[in-house]
Amino acid sequence: MDSTKPNPSIITAIQSRRTIKEFRSDRIPEQTLWQILDAARWAPNHRLTEPWRIAIIGMQSREELADALARQTASSQDPSVLAKAKEEAQRKVMSSPVLLAVTCRIAESPAQQVEDLAAVCAAVQNLQLAAWGEGIGTHWNTGRVTRLPETDALLQLSERGEELVGFLYLGYPAQVPEPPKRRPIQDFVRNLP
Ligand SMILES: Cc1cc2nc3c(=O)[nH]c(=O)nc-3n(C[C@H](O)[C@H](O)[C@H](O)COP(=O)(O)O)c2cc1C
Repeated sequence: MDSTKPNPSIITAIQSRRTIKEFRSDRIPEQTLWQILDAARWAPNHRLTEPWRIAIIGMQSREELADALARQTASSQDPSVLAKAKEEAQRKVMSSPVLLAVTCRIAESPAQQVEDLAAVCAAVQNLQLAAWGEGIGTHWNTGRVTRLPETDALLQLSERGEELVGFLYLGYPAQVPEPPKRRPIQDFVRNLP
C-alpha cells in the first residue's frame, strides 16, 4: 500500500465504528487478536514514551471480577440477592470473547502524565479501529467494575506504577446500534484571525 495516497476507507472506518455491547460467542482467532493489539503501538506518543500497557484478562480473572462486582452491588448478604447480583455481574464481565485492560504507565512529571494518558487514549482508538476493520466490535468501558479495589489488585496497578484507562470488550457484534446523534463539527470549531 502507498501510504501517501488518500485512503477513504479510513474515514469510513472512523464514522462507521460503533460501541458494541452485544457480542456473538465466536472466538477471535489468535492471529487476528495480535494484529489488533499491534495497532496500539502505532499511536502517536510524545517523547516516544510508549506508555500503553495491555492485559488480556482470562476467564478465571473475569470470574473474580464478577464476584467482586456482585459483592459490591448486592444490597445484602441474602444468598438469593447475591446470586442475582452475580448473574448480572457475570453478564457484564463475561459479555465478550475477549476482555482487555488498557493501562498507562504513570510518568514522574505531571506534564508527561497528561501526554501519556493522551497517547494511551489514541492507542485505544487505534485498537478499536483495527478491530472494526476486522469486523470486530469494541466497547471501551470505565464502569463500576473498573473502579473496584479488586480490579486494582488483580491488575497490580500500584506495584506496576500504572493507571487504568479502561476495559475494552472485544467480539464479533451480535448487533450494531444506530449511530448516536452527533452535532456538526462546525459547532465545535472557531476561526481565529
Ligand atoms: C473514556 C471512555 C469511557 C467509556 N465508558 C463507557 C462505559 O463505562 N459504559 C458505556 O456504556 N460506554 C462507555 N463508553 C462508550 C461511549 O458511551 C460511546 O463511545 C458513546 O456512546 C458514543 O457511541 P459510539 O462509540 O458508538 O460512537 C466510553 C467511551 C470512552 C471514550
